[in-house]
Amino acid sequence: MILFLVVGISLVTFFIARNQVRSEKRGLRADLQRRAEILAESLQEIIEPALQKSSPARLRPIVEHYANKQQLAGVVIYDDRGRVLAESSTLVTRLTPPPVPLDEIKAGSPGVSRFLTLGGKPMNAYYVPLHRDGDIAGVLAIFHDASYIEAQSDAIWRDTIWHVVAQVLLIVLITVAIIRWTIILPISRTAQWMKDVRVGRAGPRPSLPAEDFLAPFSQEVVNLAKSLNEARASAEEEARLRETGESMWTAERLRVSIQSRPFGSLFVVSNREPYMNVHRGKSIESLVPASGLVTALEPILRACDGTWIAFGSGDADKITVDEHDRLRVPPDHPEYTLRRVWLNKEEEHGYYYGFSNEGLWPLCHIAHTRPIFRATDWQSYQEANRKFADAVLEEMKGIEHALLLVQDYHFALLPKMIKEARPDIRVAIFWHIPWPNPEAFRICPWQREVLDGLLGADLVGFHIQAHCNNFLETVDAALESRIEWERFAVKRNNHTTLVRPFPISVDFRESQSEPGDSVSPYELRAALLKNLGIKASFLGVGVDRIDYTKGIVERLRGVERFLEKYPVYRKQFTFVQIGAPSRTNIPRYDDLGRAVEAVANRINARFQTADWKPIVMLTRHHDHNEIQPYYRAADLCMVTSLHDGMNLVAKEFIASREDEGGALILSQFTGAARELRDAIIVNPYDAEQLADSIELALEMSPDDRRERMKRMRRIVKEHNVYRWAGNLIAELAEIRVNEPEPALKSDL
Ligand code: G6P
Repeated sequence: MILFLVVGISLVTFFIARNQVRSEKRGLRADLQRRAEILAESLQEIIEPALQKSSPARLRPIVEHYANKQQLAGVVIYDDRGRVLAESSTLVTRLTPPPVPLDEIKAGSPGVSRFLTLGGKPMNAYYVPLHRDGDIAGVLAIFHDASYIEAQSDAIWRDTIWHVVAQVLLIVLITVAIIRWTIILPISRTAQWMKDVRVGRAGPRPSLPAEDFLAPFSQEVVNLAKSLNEARASAEEEARLRETGESMWTAERLRVSIQSRPFGSLFVVSNREPYMNVHRGKSIESLVPASGLVTALEPILRACDGTWIAFGSGDADKITVDEHDRLRVPPDHPEYTLRRVWLNKEEEHGYYYGFSNEGLWPLCHIAHTRPIFRATDWQSYQEANRKFADAVLEEMKGIEHALLLVQDYHFALLPKMIKEARPDIRVAIFWHIPWPNPEAFRICPWQREVLDGLLGADLVGFHIQAHCNNFLETVDAALESRIEWERFAVKRNNHTTLVRPFPISVDFRESQSEPGDSVSPYELRAALLKNLGIKASFLGVGVDRIDYTKGIVERLRGVERFLEKYPVYRKQFTFVQIGAPSRTNIPRYDDLGRAVEAVANRINARFQTADWKPIVMLTRHHDHNEIQPYYRAADLCMVTSLHDGMNLVAKEFIASREDEGGALILSQFTGAARELRDAIIVNPYDAEQLADSIELALEMSPDDRRERMKRMRRIVKEHNVYRWAGNLIAELAEIRVNEPEPALKSDL
């Protein structure tokens, strides 16, 4: 490469120099010619009269005189036949004058210039005619020494060569330095790091060159190292579990468990898709939307090469699918199929924003926001469910005994639609949000249709037993059916639906940090606060979608009360609220966003000082990697939902605390509060209690804090997302379909 560079630069410089020498030479020659012409003309005027009167012998002193005076190489006078009449001694002594261009002179040329070599020297000869009585009587030639022109050209060549040498050296040195610092060093550091990863003692990942052409390489290195670490962690975990005889669920165990069950295929339907394609400048990126659903369901689909049917919401989704609206995912390592369903703006509005999120969402969450039920939204909801059902049926064509996992409140009608067309399919629906009591649910004008749709499923799952109970009571109150309380089932129209709790969770790993990521929570906290421009000793964190069910305003009021009640913590404690804007097309959400900002601003205005404030709002979507440092650095995490099916933030926080530090303040109205008994359980409506819980979290003895975190980590570890998926599938796979139970007389 360096050789090419040297040859290339040399050739270019050579051609430039050659042109420069040529044009310089041309200029010098033209200049010399002009001088010769002027001189010859003035001599011509002197010599012509002398030629008329004098003998050639008299001409000699004249030429001698001018040759000396003008420092010429020679002056020669010829007769009309080209014979020398007189010549200066300068020339005579050394040279034989060259032949005269008589023909050109006689043809009427006023002057002829010749560059020639005389006696080995470059010369310019300039010839002009000499007239007598109007005829050409002779020729006057003046000779200039032209060797200085060559000398000048040589000098240019010499300079150019030095230039080339210096330039080539400089460019080569700079190029070598750039390549070394921006490519060779980072790559060799990366190679060393990969070697360390391979042998299991990796330090922090070295930064790779930012150049565009290296981006794919850089990405692959990271992916490869990540896969390797995951594989190693999983193998170590498996080995450890075998050793200790624990019955832990892992991604690998889930895979084995699914593969050992003889069912045709597995299908999942959800509103959110696991991968969305979006335009970023000229390229198309694949994003994983922030959703616990993907973490929970992806291992299942990967294990059995299933099909995930979801709404294609990315602006580049349509151009990344094949003619059947399918694509293989994950993009880096395709293992299952994503089938996208398209909804136009109107459909999305009625089905998603309207019936799902302005109707069912507030209906199921007791957060004192009134549900809004519009007939048009209900219409869209039915149509959208039909559209998804058609897509599911299309994907299932020709496949027998498949399992279908329907996700959430967006698809209450889908189980029945599928079952009517394909009774051989085992259908489960998992309701990710709470189920309220019958009194609350009966607000819905279409409660019967919703329940009827859900009961098409063979299995209905909730996070906790209380939601199962509420559901059965609602069915009991609204529909004619038989509730079998002893086995938690509903029998209706000769079809049985089991109702079971499956508490969802997170992917718990012993080590969540990147290899070599050994920064302590203390250092991390200092770095985060410094970044936010705040001086404080204690950090609290909250992570939520900005949703009225999350109790964000109540939480901030709790922080305010804490600072009123425990003033010693002013200028000491800062609460960072990471808030992802959500469903902002709905006015209630938009208003809430503003209300949260206003409360935060009011509290800050009340307490803040030059370099400290009590509340920092980080209002935008943050990905998992951005949130992790806050979880790991915080003294406490606050989850104050007014009502929540489970709440995975609580579990994510616990999973992040490898150091067994940090305290969790958890609303009693979350599903998670049933499992995480060692959290500081609070009523989010009680600001006094929230204030005291913050004080307790900060004042708790380190041993107490560690013990609580240890116990909560054990629970989250055992009840991880793989157990959730494994149990759900096991329960569904055991259900017998196509074999109706003999109807009892009392059956309806
Ligand atoms: C709740 C629902 C999920 C949903 C999530 C995000 O947790 O149960 O199904 O994915 O909120 O809401 P979004 O409307 O943005 O999908």
